[in-house]
Amino acid sequence: TYSSTPASTNMSERMNTTEIFDGIRFPGFMHTLESLNAACAFQFQDTDVLLVTFPKSGTTWMQQVLSLIFCEGHLWPIHHLPNWARMPWIEQTSFSSLLPKLSSSWPRLLTSHLCAKALAPALMKSKAKVVYMARNPKDALVSFYHFHQIAGFLPNPSSFEDFVDEFLKGTGFFGSWFDHVKGWLGLQKDLNLHFVTYEELHQEPRRTIQKLSEFLGHPLRAGEEDVILEHCSFSFMSNSNMVNYSLLSKEIIDQSQGKFLRKGVVGDWKEHFTPELNEKFNAVYQSKMGDSGLCLPWTMD
Ligand code: A3P
Repeated sequence: TYSSTPASTNMSERMNTTEIFDGIRFPGFMHTLESLNAACAFQFQDTDVLLVTFPKSGTTWMQQVLSLIFCEGHLWPIHHLPNWARMPWIEQTSFSSLLPKLSSSWPRLLTSHLCAKALAPALMKSKAKVVYMARNPKDALVSFYHFHQIAGFLPNPSSFEDFVDEFLKGTGFFGSWFDHVKGWLGLQKDLNLHFVTYEELHQEPRRTIQKLSEFLGHPLRAGEEDVILEHCSFSFMSNSNMVNYSLLSKEIIDQSQGKFLRKGVVGDWKEHFTPELNEKFNAVYQSKMGDSGLCLPWTMD
C-alpha cells in the first residue's frame, strides 16, 4: 500500500532539513547523503529508461507518458500505482525499497533530478536510454515558486523577486537550471539521449509521443496513441490520485493551498514577471546560455 503519512517518524523529523550534495541543496525529507551517493553509483542496465528533468519541467507528465507507452493499453498500473512507484527517483531514500517492486514486464523505468556531472559516470557504463525533458525556465521557475508554497519539505519563498534571484544564481534547491540543461544536453553525443520539451508535448502531443516511441524502440499499435493521449491529458491527470499527489499527507504537500497540477500551460510566466524582472532574467539567460551552442525551442519574450 502507498500510505498517506510519512513511513517513519524519521521522515517527518527530516521534513525541514536540507542535504547538501556536491554543493547542491536537496530536501532532506527524501534525500540523504547515502541515497544520493547510491544514485551516483547505481548500476544501470542497458534496457533501463531514465527520465531526467530539472524540477517542474513536466516530470510527472512524462512519467505518465512513458508508463503508458510501455503498458501497451493494459492500464492497471495507471489506475493503481502512484507515479513514484512506477518510475521511482533513483536518488531518493525510498528507491531501495521501490526498485525490487518494479514490473518485470517492461524495462525498468526510472526518474532523476540529478545533474549530469553526478550521474553521467554511472550512466556511461551502460547503454541505458535517457529521456531528458526541459521546459522554458521562466515557466519552470513560476511552477517551482508555487510548489514551494505547497510542499512541506521546501521553504516558503520570501517573495517572487527573491525566488527569481535565487533561481538565477542557481543557489535554490536542486541547483542551477542553467547547469542542469547545459550539462545534460552537452552529453547528447555520449549518451543514448532523447531531448524533449514540455512545450512540444503541449503543442504537438501526438507527434511528440510518436518520436518518443521511436527512440524507445517501442512502436505503438493502432489506437494506442489515443489511449495515451487521453490518460496523459491535464484533466485526466488532475483527477487521478495516482499522479496528482493527493495520496500524500497535508504535511508533505498541502493541496488546500494550490494544486500540484496547477495550470499546465505554456507562458504562465507572463502573469508573474514584471518588465524589470524579465529584463534581468533575459540578461542572465543570455550570459549563461548564449554561447552554449544549444538549439533551445523557446523564446524568452
Ligand atoms: P504548472 O505548475 O505550471 O501547472 P513536475 O512534474 O516536473 O513537478 O512538473 C509539474 C508541472 O507540470 C506543473 O506545472 C503541472 O501542472 C505540469 N503538468 C503535469 N501534468 C501535466 C499535463 N498532463 N499537461 C500539462 N501540464 C502538466
